[in-house]
Amino acid sequence: MAKIVGCINTTHVPALGRAIAKNLQQDPYWKPFFDGFPPVHQWLNKVRPDVAVVFYNDHGLNFFLDKMPTFAVGAAEEYQNADEGWGIPTLPPFRGDPSLSWHLINSLIERDFDLTTCQEMLVDHAYTLPLKMLWPEGEVCPVRTVPICINTVQFPLPSASRCYKLGQAVGQAIQSWEQDQRVVIIGTGGLSHQLDGKRAGFVNKEFDLEFMDSLISDPLWATRYSIDELVELTGTQGVELLNWLAARGAVPGEVRKVHANYHIPISNTAAGLMAMESI
Ligand code: DHB
Ligand code: FE
Repeated sequence: MAKIVGCINTTHVPALGRAIAKNLQQDPYWKPFFDGFPPVHQWLNKVRPDVAVVFYNDHGLNFFLDKMPTFAVGAAEEYQNADEGWGIPTLPPFRGDPSLSWHLINSLIERDFDLTTCQEMLVDHAYTLPLKMLWPEGEVCPVRTVPICINTVQFPLPSASRCYKLGQAVGQAIQSWEQDQRVVIIGTGGLSHQLDGKRAGFVNKEFDLEFMDSLISDPLWATRYSIDELVELTGTQGVELLNWLAARGAVPGEVRKVHANYHIPISNTAAGLMAMESI
């Protein structure tokens, strides 16, 4: 049977792609963020996942405002990256795992999650850059991947509690996958940030740190907030934390913190990184 080795949550930002392409990881601006990763690389070397299931949100590359699924799961042999209009270098395709994708899709629909299934899916910076930061060596990502896209972009958004339950259902489905595979869960986005409007530049360090702690000690903590409250507390794009919450929900039982890092700002966002494993 498949085993979940733990979960990693990280911020995604297009500008990270340019920093990676130009090898600026030790530049004073980028260093406090990239310095968070080596302990997570060491942990990945120890737990050796075969597959990554990635909760993220698309920013208009694969889904646009005219057709916006609440939850979408990829079921492709591979996932192509493409120019998002940011001018960031594209990355080579990511290998998929159709067997796990279809197992997840069947299990989730059986559990009343009405998904969009995508046999073709372009993946944007929210998918490609976290994977590149976690596996920086080599051209091609060494693990197979399955994308799970949550709408954090166009209202109405799914509630925090619904996203946590989606994560739990994904975790249960992975544990019933009859393959001797090691699976790591990844969540990308956040933490607090707002890119537009009157509150552009808004961050909330106190909330972010409490949210990060809650993922270890009380994972349901953030589900007490409505989407409107989360927007007020974290900014219009801070709601990307829904991906972190779903990823935590997928890890069964209590967890131990492997490593955490928090830094303000990277581009326009409070940047976080957190790895955890089942006790
Ligand atoms: C930025 C973009 C994002 O998609 C995000 O989640 C955070 C920050 C940015 O361009 O600053
Ligand atoms: Fe984003």
